[in-house]
Amino acid sequence: MPVLTLIQERKKDKGYKITISGGLLAKLPKKLKKQFNHSKYVIITDTTVRRLLGKKLLTDLRAANIDAELFSFKPSEESKTLKTVETLLNKMFKARCDRGTCVIALGGGIVGDIAGFVASTYMRGIDVIQVPTTLLAMTDAAIGGKTGVNSKFGKNLIGAFHQPKAVFMDTEVLKSLPDEEIRNGYAEVIKSAAIRSKQFFKFLERNNEKILARKPRILKKIITETARIKADIVAKDAKEGHIRMILNYGHTYGHAVEKALKFRIQHGYAVSIGMEIINKMAVKEGLMNKKHAARITALLKRSSLPTRLPKGIKMSQLEKLLLLDKKRVNGKQNIIIVPRIGTAAIVEL
Ligand SMILES: NC(=O)c1ccc[n+]([C@@H]2O[C@H](COP(=O)([O-])OP(=O)(O)OC[C@H]3O[C@@H](n4cnc5c(N)ncnc54)[C@H](O)[C@@H]3O)[C@@H](O)[C@H]2O)c1
Ligand SMILES: [Zn+2]
Repeated sequence: MPVLTLIQERKKDKGYKITISGGLLAKLPKKLKKQFNHSKYVIITDTTVRRLLGKKLLTDLRAANIDAELFSFKPSEESKTLKTVETLLNKMFKARCDRGTCVIALGGGIVGDIAGFVASTYMRGIDVIQVPTTLLAMTDAAIGGKTGVNSKFGKNLIGAFHQPKAVFMDTEVLKSLPDEEIRNGYAEVIKSAAIRSKQFFKFLERNNEKILARKPRILKKIITETARIKADIVAKDAKEGHIRMILNYGHTYGHAVEKALKFRIQHGYAVSIGMEIINKMAVKEGLMNKKHAARITALLKRSSLPTRLPKGIKMSQLEKLLLLDKKRVNGKQNIIIVPRIGTAAIVEL
């Protein structure tokens, strides 16, 4: 069973383990008992995952004599609000949770972000354990400690860095994930390989169809590799400094596409388009190897990920949105390019 240890650069953070294995969820009560001594566990999830996995986990925890509760909300980006956070906090007060309570974030990235933020604010901060159940959450959202909700002024504008005590990924839970969600997460896998590892990118090229067919061994391999890449980058730079920025490859224009479509496009799909836009620009400027750009396009297309701007959206519209981006400093914006597959560079736009 691969276990990655995330070593935080800042000494006061102890780092945490990321365990990836098929069938891990059933073993969770035993693992929690062995590794931690929390007074109570609160599973936070959405109503879909509650039905698929949450109820069973609650039963298993209680069967192991662990004090546990299960709270859920509607599975939608619209749930990512302070209102949902307040409702969950109130449920925790009613259930007499104390500082020894630990939140289990069981679900996709939405659950991870909300539950993580709830844990970061309950009585000024209690432990959280991330148990991601989508490919996107396993490869991206559950690692790195970013938590939060949306504001009417923009996505993810309210939040906190709150590192989990541990991350448990059960690859078997991906069986019930819709195809569209697999592709959504797979875009981030391709991104990670492109910025960091040409061997891993080759592996994806060779195994693409097996990945999309969810061959368990291959899924485990790509989750492990992608998690390793993110954990490695984040460990070097826990608070969004220079290195962490390279994870934003494809994201600057990707975010603009999401905004232009009022978030009626999934994140991974928008990132796929974002990678294509920046690759074209980089090739044009002589900053990216043309053949490598073509390999990325080919892999995205084989994965049925979009490579062109959706109908009705123009580049000029995206450029306007970029001017409003929260990450713009002194009128300039740093953007990530991939000069060759496996390497990333930061350029100014
Ligand atoms: N914190 C971070 O670093 C970070 C990084 C990337 C994305 N995010 C956030 O993550 C969110 C997107 O996450 P997501 O793509 O996982 O979406 P999601 O949480 O909405 O999950 C997608 C859908 O899959 C369902 N689902 C979850 N697990 C399932 C399973 N095992 N079987 C069947 N269905 C299942 C959910 O109910 C939901 O309907 C966004 O809000 C984004 O801002 C955060
Ligand atoms: Zn992303």
